[in-house]
Amino acid sequence: MTEPRLSNQKVDPVQEDYLQKKAHYQADTVAVHYDATRWSSPSRRWSNQRKLRTIAKAIDHAARLHEPIRTALDLPCGTGRIFPVLFARNIRVTGADLSAEMMHVARNKFHDAPGQKGFVRCDAESIPFSTDRFDAVFSIRFLFHLQPAVRRRALSEMARVSRRWVIIDCRHRYTMKYRLRELQRRLGLSSKIYQPLSREELKEDFRQAGLEPVMIFPTFPIFSDKWVILGRKIR
Ligand SMILES: C[S@@+](CC[C@H](N)C(=O)[O-])C[C@H]1O[C@@H](n2cnc3c(N)ncnc32)[C@H](O)[C@@H]1O
Repeated sequence: MTEPRLSNQKVDPVQEDYLQKKAHYQADTVAVHYDATRWSSPSRRWSNQRKLRTIAKAIDHAARLHEPIRTALDLPCGTGRIFPVLFARNIRVTGADLSAEMMHVARNKFHDAPGQKGFVRCDAESIPFSTDRFDAVFSIRFLFHLQPAVRRRALSEMARVSRRWVIIDCRHRYTMKYRLRELQRRLGLSSKIYQPLSREELKEDFRQAGLEPVMIFPTFPIFSDKWVILGRKIR
């Protein structure tokens, strides 16, 4: 049950949206239908394929730098969207998510995959693994929903449990999409929560987490507002 709110209490809209999303994914019905609804149209499926290909490029880049990824934590793993890309590169994957329901769907889909090394229910703000536990932590379609302070806390946790790499996606400002959204917002046509980062903000997030961005991979240059970033832990 949600706490009653006092009328004069100010609620940060980003935080409120995040709390709603946390609760949303705990529902059985949401988890069971997630794949079918999330990737329902051809354009969504195409954008999913593009994202997966971009993540693959980041993994291959890490290998070219002679530090290949053999073990990974995928947080939040949801229904295991990126698992096939990781398994195809022989990465042993632990899935983690706040929602047992989403992980249940992932487990059913991938229980017999040799690279699947189990699931852990946890909050990204406090990850129950020791420091340097995995070669890499992947966090896709997650951090850009969080308030800056929460985002930096979660990213720091990811950096802590990774020995070397953190691979995330983010929304950025260097696209047509950003300009269009800004225009809509100024004209009062959209009140959607949208927190695209500048390069400086991204670097600052990484710096505070003890990471450096090694390479930025646009998912669809000019048009898409998503980057996949390969970040390396600063020793
Ligand atoms: C949009 S899905 C993304 C999942 C997956 N990475 C993907 O790309 O499909 C968001 C997931 O984040 C999980 N989640 C939300 N808040 C979380 C938190 N604080 N810690 C861990 N998982 C969280 C939800 O349960 C949900 O499964």
